[in-house]
Amino acid sequence: MSEALLRASCLTHVYSAGTPFEKAAVADVSFEIGDNEFIGVIGHTGSGKSTLIQSLNGLLKPSSGQIFYQGQDIWKKGFSQRELRFRVGLVFQYPEYQLFEETVEKDIAFGPKNMGLSEEEIRQRVEEAMYFVGLPDRFRTRSPFELSGGQKRRAAIAGIMAMRPKVLILDEPTAGLDPRGCHEILSRIREYQQTEKITVILVSHSMEDICANAQKVMVLHQAHLVMFAPTEEVFARAGELSEMGLSVPQITRVFLTLSQKGYDLSSVFSVARAADEILRKAGRPQ
Ligand SMILES: Nc1ncnc2c1ncn2[C@@H]1O[C@H](COP(=O)(O)OP(=O)(O)OP(=O)(O)O)[C@@H](O)[C@H]1O
Ligand SMILES: [Mg+2]
Repeated sequence: MSEALLRASCLTHVYSAGTPFEKAAVADVSFEIGDNEFIGVIGHTGSGKSTLIQSLNGLLKPSSGQIFYQGQDIWKKGFSQRELRFRVGLVFQYPEYQLFEETVEKDIAFGPKNMGLSEEEIRQRVEEAMYFVGLPDRFRTRSPFELSGGQKRRAAIAGIMAMRPKVLILDEPTAGLDPRGCHEILSRIREYQQTEKITVILVSHSMEDICANAQKVMVLHQAHLVMFAPTEEVFARAGELSEMGLSVPQITRVFLTLSQKGYDLSSVFSVARAADEILRKAGRPQ
């Protein structure tokens, strides 16, 4: 039997254990993620999304339960956590937490340098990563702290991309970016995921971003994993999502309302799919 790329088994994370502030941010969560998948993670604020993904690359140690990377327990003695950080790259929810060097160039080079790559390889990776995220070359020598919110975000993504991780985890990567920049970066990441056959885990409050990119969606609710299924299946359960304080894409809502009014329409979550569905219903060739 082939092992999953990432596996969580009964993962629980309790903050401030043993104090009056004790809080289970992730409770008894189990799942498997394979190669070349694009996973969306949604959930109300405080549902445990950031805690969960920070457990996946060993940044947070679970209170109980296990994480396996390619079948290896990441907390077992002898497992290289250092290697894991290179393979499972995490872009933080707040890019300020990630940027700390004097220049953008040094910041992006930090990961590749730690990996022990040659100067030439590092230079090339920095250049490629900046191009990938759309940061012009003139930013190379700037301090990351002088950048705008959107540029900081791009620099933080570039620093992780430069390690060429096998799993790329993005925690709300588009906050701070304008809608066009956001769409552009996500579609580049999606393209990269498909060509390089990496796995992407995207945490987002934007149902539109999730629907446009994710093949499968995890729904966290009050620390529990309550759904993990193909995107269509998750958004077809709009009623349950809305009870958890989550929205569905606007087009999905329109279609659900039409179905409730008696129209025989399948659930859709993109405008393109909606158009196909209407044409099908109208009996016209698509
Ligand atoms: N360092 C911490 N110490 C104590 N409690 C924490 C800590 N970090 C998070 N929590 C609590 O754990 C729960 C889950 O937080 P987490 O940040 O994982 O949620 P989230 O789903 O990422 O939320 P958001 O959508 O706002 O980013 C919340 O109740 C939060 O207040
Ligand atoms: Mg979060």
